[in-house]
Amino acid sequence: MPADTKVSHPVFARLYARIASEAERKGAAENRDEMLGGLEGRVIEVGAGTGLNFGHYPHEVTEVVAVEPEPLLRKMADEEAAHSQVSIKVVDGVADALPAEDGSFDAGVPSLVLCSVADQGAALAELFRVVRPGGELRFLEHVRAESRAFARFQRAVDVFHPLIGGGCHTSRDTLAAIEAAGFVVERVRRFRFTPCFVDQAVSPHIVGTARRPTAQEGS
Ligand SMILES: C[S@@+](CC[C@H](N)C(=O)[O-])C[C@H]1O[C@@H](n2cnc3c(N)ncnc32)[C@H](O)[C@@H]1O
Repeated sequence: MPADTKVSHPVFARLYARIASEAERKGAAENRDEMLGGLEGRVIEVGAGTGLNFGHYPHEVTEVVAVEPEPLLRKMADEEAAHSQVSIKVVDGVADALPAEDGSFDAGVPSLVLCSVADQGAALAELFRVVRPGGELRFLEHVRAESRAFARFQRAVDVFHPLIGGGCHTSRDTLAAIEAAGFVVERVRRFRFTPCFVDQAVSPHIVGTARRPTAQEGS
């Protein structure tokens, strides 16, 4: 039984649409370019939000299936997809029960979503299932800080943060979770980025690439 069968955060959805467009101007757009550069083939994006990644997919991407459960965000993503140069299909669905066949994608893209899903392990297991052996995971996420003091601060913030941030946790060790799901991390860059100055707890970020091993490599 999926942990999230329905996701509805209308207030957060409106707020996110505003904060995110401000963040794009502050440098988030460059982070998205770094995440998606060189990608090709069929891609599944999980928790697509308003579709801020859509304009950053390279032409070599043949199709993007963009899964978004929140109705208002999905509507905005749909409108954004209509302007995209790459073929993008926006669909309803949740991360821990992806509407896709095993191994049917060349790449999976979680960006700023593994903080918000109810069951991070289940979401990553689904991405592992639908990405073909040898395929990629391209990720951009805010994560637990390496500094133990900062991570303690993030854990304290997480007492209330998910309640005001559409389920968003600040202290998740997402890189470890990606590896625990079976992906092999090939490249990761840690950096600080503060999209909203009052929300310092989300500033530690990672961007990178992981791969689902092939059968020969022991997946
Ligand atoms: C912070 S927004 C990020 C949106 C977008 N990926 C981006 O990079 O701007 C988090 C997104 O995760 C979605 N989300 C939350 N729970 C989810 C779930 N269980 N499955 C899929 N998406 C989910 C939310 O609806 C929202 O669109």
